[in-house]
Amino acid sequence: MIDGRRIDPWSSEQSTDYDRITNQFGLDSIELSKIPNPNILHRRGIIFAHRDLDIILNSIKKKEKFGVLTGLMPSGKMHLGHSMVIEQVKWFQEQGGDITVAVADLEALATRSTSLSKGREVAINEYIINYAALGLDPKSTNVYFQSKRPEVQRLAFTLGRRTNISEFEAIYGFGGDTNLAHVQAPLVQAGDIVHPQLEQFGGLRPIVVPVGIDQDPHLRLTRGIVSKTNWFNVKPRKQGGLTVALSIQDDNSEIMGISEDGKFNREVRNNLIDRMKNSIIKLGFADIFPNPKHGTIDVPGASNNDISSLKLSLLQLERKLGGMGIMPPCSTYHRFAVGMTGDKMSSSKPETTIFMDDSISQMEKKVKRAYSGGQSTIEEHRRLGGDCSKDVAFQYLQYFFEADDNHLNEIQRDYESGKLLAGEMKNICMENATSWLNDLSEKRDEWAGRAEEFLAPDAL
Ligand code: TRP
Repeated sequence: MIDGRRIDPWSSEQSTDYDRITNQFGLDSIELSKIPNPNILHRRGIIFAHRDLDIILNSIKKKEKFGVLTGLMPSGKMHLGHSMVIEQVKWFQEQGGDITVAVADLEALATRSTSLSKGREVAINEYIINYAALGLDPKSTNVYFQSKRPEVQRLAFTLGRRTNISEFEAIYGFGGDTNLAHVQAPLVQAGDIVHPQLEQFGGLRPIVVPVGIDQDPHLRLTRGIVSKTNWFNVKPRKQGGLTVALSIQDDNSEIMGISEDGKFNREVRNNLIDRMKNSIIKLGFADIFPNPKHGTIDVPGASNNDISSLKLSLLQLERKLGGMGIMPPCSTYHRFAVGMTGDKMSSSKPETTIFMDDSISQMEKKVKRAYSGGQSTIEEHRRLGGDCSKDVAFQYLQYFFEADDNHLNEIQRDYESGKLLAGEMKNICMENATSWLNDLSEKRDEWAGRAEEFLAPDAL
């Protein structure tokens, strides 16, 4: 829900004022021309915004490591809405990313009273099997359970030091009567998002989290917290180039050359600045202007494109010096498909969506009843044409069931010109949905009993 100031990740209300959200929360728009091998969600503007996606695109271009983190709530059934994130995950996987899937069994236990054993069963038999059927590759996918990964829980505690109740009030609108399960869940989710960067889970590398816009508050929280842990900040310089600056904190002040009594220790500081210089020189920059007293290093020859490689090498140094050395997560955001009834999609209202295991006749019933953008009489429809922006059958073709752009454009043209009638649009949708669902169900059968291939060793 959006009340003008906030997004509530637990509400089933959804705002669709994407421009306002983009501006208000400082998201960047997706530039299609920068996306290699765009999938249908990219091409159709459904993935519309991001934070720091350039870092990931850079890794893709340079064939450097990056990871993808996604999470699932193991309650209820998987439906079309959930498949959108998996389409994005699949795309990142095809571009070379490794995939980590968090089963939010602790969150489900705390916020929905789902037992851990029920959560496990739902995660595997309802979600993972469909991820497999949708084409995720088990070779570079690791599914884990929040309850079985102590590192994630430990991070939830240590990251909690960097935030407070006021920030939760500002981000989530929490007040005195907020259940503490809702305070814990975002911290555990921050742990989910950050932990793939730990040595034992793949080590330092950029991580991207594709989500629906409703999850952005968690990303803002996590990015804020992570930035506060960083020992070195990299920023554009006014005169051009980049500046690296120390972030002196309780945990690192001695290493940064500030003694316990607050005195400046020139030798320690010079030593640190030398190590930073070495990290920067290794990247190929020759002109470096350190100011040990200020704790800054200017790199006039660096450009904004170098920010991520500079950050990565300084995070590496931070780790050697005893810091966490983690990067703020990158993220992408997709628009929500409308519910079939014309308002929002929700698992608790089966008529608003199509479940992955709906039978063909269940699907057909829903499409036949779906909200239509056609005119009220055939004569009027022929004269005025239909409205694709309101027509659910058309939008489901656009979001899910018609992969061919030319064909989709043709359908749109014919509908808007009045050549194609609303009932005919629904027939096309039902036909495509039929083969989509049948194909998925066949693939699910192929994967039956093999979901384990996706599980991380600590999830077995
Ligand atoms: N909170 C998410 C949901 O309600 C599930 C989740 C847990 C998640 N951890 C995550 C999603 C990490 C993305 C990234 O669906």
